[in-house]
Amino acid sequence: MPLISLADMLKTARAGKFGVGAFNGVDSHYIDAIFDAAKRLSSPIIINVAEVHLKFFELEDMAAYVRYKASASNLPVTLNLDHGLTMPTVMRALEAGFTSVMFDGSHLPYEENVRQTAEVVKLAHARGISVEGELGAVGGDEGGNLEGAADVALYTDTEQAVDYVRSTGIDALAVAIGNSHGKYKGVPKLDFDRLAVLNQRMPVPLVLHGGSGLSVDDFQRSISLGIAKINFFTGMSQAALDAMASGLADDEIARKYDHYLFTMQRVRKGVSEAVAEQMRIFGSVDKASHYAA
Ligand code: 13P
Ligand code: ZN
Repeated sequence: MPLISLADMLKTARAGKFGVGAFNGVDSHYIDAIFDAAKRLSSPIIINVAEVHLKFFELEDMAAYVRYKASASNLPVTLNLDHGLTMPTVMRALEAGFTSVMFDGSHLPYEENVRQTAEVVKLAHARGISVEGELGAVGGDEGGNLEGAADVALYTDTEQAVDYVRSTGIDALAVAIGNSHGKYKGVPKLDFDRLAVLNQRMPVPLVLHGGSGLSVDDFQRSISLGIAKINFFTGMSQAALDAMASGLADDEIARKYDHYLFTMQRVRKGVSEAVAEQMRIFGSVDKASHYAA
C-alpha cells in the first residue's frame, strides 16, 4: 500500500479508539522488525526517522527502504520525520517522500515556535504532507543522555495550546505532561488532568513521546484521553542490545561462519517482539483493515 499521511492515520485511530505506535527506524534490521510485527498482528504503523540520528545514516536511504517495504505490504504505514529541528532537514524529508514531518520548535520562544511551525505547515500541506507540532517540552534528551526527567515548568500550557494549534494549522500536537525520552528516573507520573483539558480543547489528535517505561495503565488512560500516536524507541534499543549480547555470548553460533548474521537475526526477532508487545497494549492489533486500501 502507498504511504498514508499522519492526518489520515490518526483520524482512523481516534475513530476506533486505539493508539498507533511510532517506532524509530535506524537501520534495516529495525525496519524489518517493525514490519514483521505489523504483518503478524495486522497493525497500522508509523515509522519515525529522527533528525538527531542523521549522523548515523542518510535520511533518503531510510525513506527509500521504508517506502519499498510499505509498497510491498498491505499495511497502512506513515513515514514521519521525528523531531525535525532545522528547516533544511524538514525540506529534505518533504522531498524524500515522507508523509509527515514533526517540527520540534519546543526549545524556541513561543512566538518563534508559532512562526516556524506555521511555515512548515504551509510547505508540507502544499504537498499533502501532515505536520506534528510540539508545545511545552517533553523531558529528557533525545539523542543525548539515556536517563531523563520531565520538568513541570515545561508542561504544555492548555491556553497556549489552543492558540498554537489555531495559529499554525498543525495536524497533531505532541504534549508534555510528565513524559520523558529515554529511561525514566523513578516512576513516571503523567498529568492526566492536564491531558483531559487538552483533549477537550484540541481539535487535533494528541501525541505522546517518551513511550518507553510507561505502564499499560498509563497508555490506556492516555489513549482514552485523546492520545492517538505513541512514540517508542528506547525499549526497542534495549531489546536489540539484549539480543545482541545473547548472540555474542552463544558459543554454538560463535563457531559458525555466519555468527554475525545469526546474531542480527536475534536482534530482528527481539526488536519485533518489543514492538508487538506495544501494539497489543495500544490496541492497534487487527486494525490494518480499518484503513482503505
Ligand atoms: P522513548 O525513546 O523514550 O521511547 O521516546 C521515543 C520518542 O519520543 C521519539 O520521538
Ligand atoms: Zn520524541
